[in-house]
Amino acid sequence: MTDTVSRRSALRLLGGAITVAATATGGLTTPVHALNRPEAGAGPRVESLIGRLTLDEKISLLHGATDPNSLGQAGYVPGVPRLNVPPLRLADGPAGVRVTRHATALPAPVLLASAFDPELARRYGRVIGREGRALGQDVLLSPMVNLIRTPYAGRNFETFSEDPLLASDMVAAEIEGIQGEGLIATVKHYAMNNQEQDRMSVDVRVDEQTMHELELRGFEAAVGARTGAVMGAYNKVNGTFACENRTLLTDVLREQWGFEGWVMTDWFAAHSTVAAITAGLDMEMPDGTYLGTALRSAVQNGTVPERYVDRAVRRILTVMDRFGLLDGSAPPRPDRDAPASAAVAREIAEAGATLLRNERRTLPLARGGSLAVIGPTGALPFVSGGGSAHVVPDHADSPLDALKSRAGKLTYALGEDLYGKAIPASALDPAFDSEGQQLAAGQVWTYDGTLTVPEDDEWTFVLHFSSAPTARPKVLLDGTELFPQAPGYGEFFTGGLVSAAPDGLSVRRGTLTLAKGAHTLRITAQGGAGGLTFRLRRSTGATRAQDVAEAVAAARAARDVVLFAYEDATEGLDRTTIALPGHQTRLIEAVTAANPRTTVVLNTSSSTSMPWLGRTGAVLQMYYPGQEGAAATAAVLYGECDPGGRLTQSFPADDDHHPVAGDPRRYPGVDGTEEYSEGIHAGYRWYDAEGVRPLFPFGHGLSYTSFSYADLRARRTRHGIEVTFTVRNTGRREGIAVPQVYVGPSPRLRLEQAVRVLAGYRRLALRAGERRRVTVDVTARTLSCWDPARHTWVLGTGRRTVWVGTSSRELRLRTNVEVGR
Ligand code: BGC
Repeated sequence: MTDTVSRRSALRLLGGAITVAATATGGLTTPVHALNRPEAGAGPRVESLIGRLTLDEKISLLHGATDPNSLGQAGYVPGVPRLNVPPLRLADGPAGVRVTRHATALPAPVLLASAFDPELARRYGRVIGREGRALGQDVLLSPMVNLIRTPYAGRNFETFSEDPLLASDMVAAEIEGIQGEGLIATVKHYAMNNQEQDRMSVDVRVDEQTMHELELRGFEAAVGARTGAVMGAYNKVNGTFACENRTLLTDVLREQWGFEGWVMTDWFAAHSTVAAITAGLDMEMPDGTYLGTALRSAVQNGTVPERYVDRAVRRILTVMDRFGLLDGSAPPRPDRDAPASAAVAREIAEAGATLLRNERRTLPLARGGSLAVIGPTGALPFVSGGGSAHVVPDHADSPLDALKSRAGKLTYALGEDLYGKAIPASALDPAFDSEGQQLAAGQVWTYDGTLTVPEDDEWTFVLHFSSAPTARPKVLLDGTELFPQAPGYGEFFTGGLVSAAPDGLSVRRGTLTLAKGAHTLRITAQGGAGGLTFRLRRSTGATRAQDVAEAVAAARAARDVVLFAYEDATEGLDRTTIALPGHQTRLIEAVTAANPRTTVVLNTSSSTSMPWLGRTGAVLQMYYPGQEGAAATAAVLYGECDPGGRLTQSFPADDDHHPVAGDPRRYPGVDGTEEYSEGIHAGYRWYDAEGVRPLFPFGHGLSYTSFSYADLRARRTRHGIEVTFTVRNTGRREGIAVPQVYVGPSPRLRLEQAVRVLAGYRRLALRAGERRRVTVDVTARTLSCWDPARHTWVLGTGRRTVWVGTSSRELRLRTNVEVGR
């Protein structure tokens, strides 16, 4: 683990310096759908190449290497110049192209999925596809389609949903969009990478039916959309690491689904040479620990037949050939079209905006009215989550500015201080400038003194520093280290917003309860190659009370309040609670008590508990809305568009009532093993099976208008069932309806079945009074269960109930249909 961490840290640091370059715009997108043409196995060009490549050349294609001309992307494969095989550059995903240059920071995938509109996913993919090619990339390390299984998982914002049908639709459309622009897509992380805690090692025990009916469906859909690559996950599945798991890599992926592309590891997720290549792994990333010289020796000493190497090379070259990378037929790299991409980013942020509550006509806000904006993310835009999903945005506007142009009188109050306030010089003996220490390269600086605390209090110390996290100053209070190095990946995967100050310095926090009186303070710091700047700040009970008092005063003086609440998630770390972090709960309680016309805007990664919900006027879920998030949020708040999003995951009431609560074997695992013992009853299926009420159900989301639903009919077709119904906008303004079709269990199957599953949906824009007859086709796959005894899908025949609802709990219409062959 330590070794892996240090190798990864070297990689992160190498690619860590983000520089700013000019943005190219203009030029039309070249449609290259033709590159997606079907091919039957490897073509003659690929076979001829394989015949001419030396063993060393073949092996150089099977693992990552250092890019001599890096653009800041995550991975690189050198290619074989002698035979005109070009290098491959591989960049993250999933909410834009992650290189050192600017790119369009799109809304997080969970916000995209909230629009329940595969067409938007296709356009999202097209933006990334074009930008990826424009920014010198060949492969995108995205989309992520792992299901949202636990509310704590650090990457829930990077993926789509807890529901396999919605996730499948999204992933397929996005891949078509990405690859339609000539960029190779990589669906990740195959499979069962549903949490960050212990992600490098946890052994997920899951039964065959559960795996096929839930997590694997999205990956199968990605294969159906002809994804060029698949990324194997870090974790184990049923006892074997995903990247050497024959069941996953060969039996399911190749034999059942007919995948023709290549499988690469997640970064440092390979664990073996022989087991991995024979199980079906094709490429190791980002280096060649196992598929480099170790593989060459294994071939030379006869442990691995060379045909396995040829097989992997063939899979990679076949995709490269399909994308025109071997014969120069790939279209020239386009320029970025930043304005057009930004327009898509904004449209999607508005389309996914999910209005969870709206009482007493709190929203939409009236233009020109007095408004108090509260919360750190009201001023600092919350663009994206942390980890490998972070994109360097073209720009990021402050929500405050976006609201200013619409409000009459606007006041702003911080409410919750993320970065601390200066420590008064009088509290430090001897005094030192805790606001701005500058050390030259190599300079060592030590402070030995005391900090005097005026009363018993909880202090949060906030260190701002310019160095790499591992070279930050060491601060000891009464001998206790205030900012210890986080274990595992903690240092490298910290959130995007809270771990960097507005001026770019890195930030770490440490909280202690301190008794009144003097405490010893010792600081040691050393300037690195570029010197070191740091400051030490703090928040105390007194400063917090002051921040809340200012927020309350602002709330009281305004007609309406918009309070921005945040939660900063990142890959590598899970949350430990679904409550809002810091002291935000107290802030919301105080502000809503002062002014009930308060709208809470949530810039959070996944579900949140809301003990304060009943006191609010409205709650708007925006997740991480991307670089156009401020404009989109303001447009929704002021009713310039209807909040078009619906929840793609159930929001639990609290930490004790959700599918993985109360059983550590289910989450986060015990002794390295985790059991998916909820089986097929994941997400809303669990709430229905257990009769537990979520805070907000899957599919929930309000509009500014109202809709009625009528005349449900369901009939059997050759491919499944056809469901028709009428939706009418009964309000006085145009709005978005997202009717959802749910289907109940088959009486004839002797298999575990859910109370109901999402079987289809439709996003509709209807004018006031407009009525639309809607048809939703439900496929045989949705009506089938995976039979583990026969290792195949079986259709759930017989009389089945069909509902049309506005969420998994709000079922408006119901009928029955006879399903049969
Ligand atoms: C993540 C992947 C990512 C890769 C390259 C890994 O830590 O799990 O999603 O594509 O790094 O940055």
